[in-house]
Amino acid sequence: MLLGVNIDHIAVLREARKINDPDPLDALGIVKRAGGDQITIHLREDRRHIVDSDAKKIVQNSQLPVNMECSINPEIIDIICSLKPHRATLVPEKREEVTTEGGLDVIKYFTEINDAVKKLKDNEIDVSLFVDPDFEIISACADTEADMIELHTGAYANIYAMLYTNLRFTHHSIKELELSRKELTEKLSTALGEIENSAIYGKKAGLEVAAGHGLNYQNVKAVADIEDIIELNIGQSIIARSVWVGLEEAVREMVKIIRS
Ligand code: PXP
Repeated sequence: MLLGVNIDHIAVLREARKINDPDPLDALGIVKRAGGDQITIHLREDRRHIVDSDAKKIVQNSQLPVNMECSINPEIIDIICSLKPHRATLVPEKREEVTTEGGLDVIKYFTEINDAVKKLKDNEIDVSLFVDPDFEIISACADTEADMIELHTGAYANIYAMLYTNLRFTHHSIKELELSRKELTEKLSTALGEIENSAIYGKKAGLEVAAGHGLNYQNVKAVADIEDIIELNIGQSIIARSVWVGLEEAVREMVKIIRS
């Protein structure tokens, strides 16, 4: 199992003071040394954390492949094409592009997404689409030239948090709050099953399959054990843990869990 470490939250801390420290560039060597396989960053349209100069320096200096998450906004796609990271992962940034706070609606926005995929592929950048574990959406992904899908694990992570931890919800949906433990346990198993079946479905459709969002040291193992998922992208929990043990140890601990 490969680990992409999302380092956006280092830039979140920097932007809290609008100064130069901490610099996400300093994470590159540490993630590599700790056994991470990929650097993931999100160049958002509002540049709330990673800014253009970060993205440029990270792509130029990383010894690990760089996976850039981005919206389908043509201006952003042009920037990604000029930076030439190893991969672009298209993600929803606006409510219109999402289904129920989840992944890209590749059916409704097929033309726009397909245009973005084509442009990136023409520039020799691999493309992944961040989607809900949903067969119809995954089928639509397979109709594009995308190489990969990243399955949104947020729903699974939320239910896990409600059942087993005192963590606050990672998402906005609180409709599960009134459910009993038995119902939540069933829902967790359903959510995990949907991820696993979607991974099998995606692989059969010719796509590589990654997963991510809301994964942490407690909930990650069950997802890491899914055979057809080859990569996990994890940010918040690793950067949060690094406050206590340092980034290198935080990445090492995650690597150990997902490869055990
Ligand atoms: N994968 C994608 C496509 C994402 O948008 C994010 C969040 O930036 C992540 C993975 C990482 O999520 P988290 O920070 O919850 O680990």
